[in-house]
Amino acid sequence: MQPPTIFNPKVLNPVDPAIEGYMRHLVNRTDDPVLTEMETMAENKNFPIVGRLVGIFLETLARTIDAKRVFEFGSGYGYSAYWFSKAVGPEGNVICSDADPLNKEKAERYLNSAGLGNRVSFHVGFAQDIFSKTEGMFDICYNDVDKGQYPEVWHLAKNKIRLGGLYIADNALWHGRVAVDNYVDIVPGWTEAIMEHNQLIFNDPEFDAFINPIRDGVIVARRKTK
Ligand SMILES: C[S@@+](CC[C@H](N)C(=O)[O-])C[C@H]1O[C@@H](n2cnc3c(N)ncnc32)[C@H](O)[C@@H]1O
Repeated sequence: MQPPTIFNPKVLNPVDPAIEGYMRHLVNRTDDPVLTEMETMAENKNFPIVGRLVGIFLETLARTIDAKRVFEFGSGYGYSAYWFSKAVGPEGNVICSDADPLNKEKAERYLNSAGLGNRVSFHVGFAQDIFSKTEGMFDICYNDVDKGQYPEVWHLAKNKIRLGGLYIADNALWHGRVAVDNYVDIVPGWTEAIMEHNQLIFNDPEFDAFINPIRDGVIVARRKTK
């Protein structure tokens, strides 16, 4: 009998690297030194930021719905928040959360240098707890925490997104693991949790959803207005 094929996650690129390279080349217009510093830091420390293509996608989505209030679950050192805070404008607010206090320090340093610091409030702790204690509705809830927690975050966030607002989550394709039978999970249960999360969203009658396959897949769900 043949042994089961073990899926090597590096093999399945949702978008061919040459095509991503081309798209990346098109968006080279942003030459903010703070952004470049954040990207270099990610590369040197192997820290999983969303990257330039997804960053521009997040900013564009936020501008499209005129977002003013964004909650981020899992902000790292503020790279995704950089893009959201550009979109919300001087009157807007991006509420960031991360378990690591060092990330708050770094994020505040970077975002202040970029002139965006006054649009961001950064909270250290368990993102779901911080979210539950934050009152009001959001234009966007953005999820990038540990992947086993994805269904929980969706359940929490969906009712606090205003009509016409967006739920966005990174890593929806998890380097292709969601699409094959035999895969090697980095952490047991993470692939299953992402698959459950995606299915919950696509089954929800209150939301329209789509996955943009760039980088590692970005799921976007819009709360219907009628
Ligand atoms: C993938 S990184 C975030 C990257 C960031 N969104 C970006 O693109 O710049 C995930 C971050 O979430 C944090 N994290 C994971 N699960 C968390 C949770 N439940 N509560 C708070 N922080 C969490 C980790 O400390 C890590 O910094």
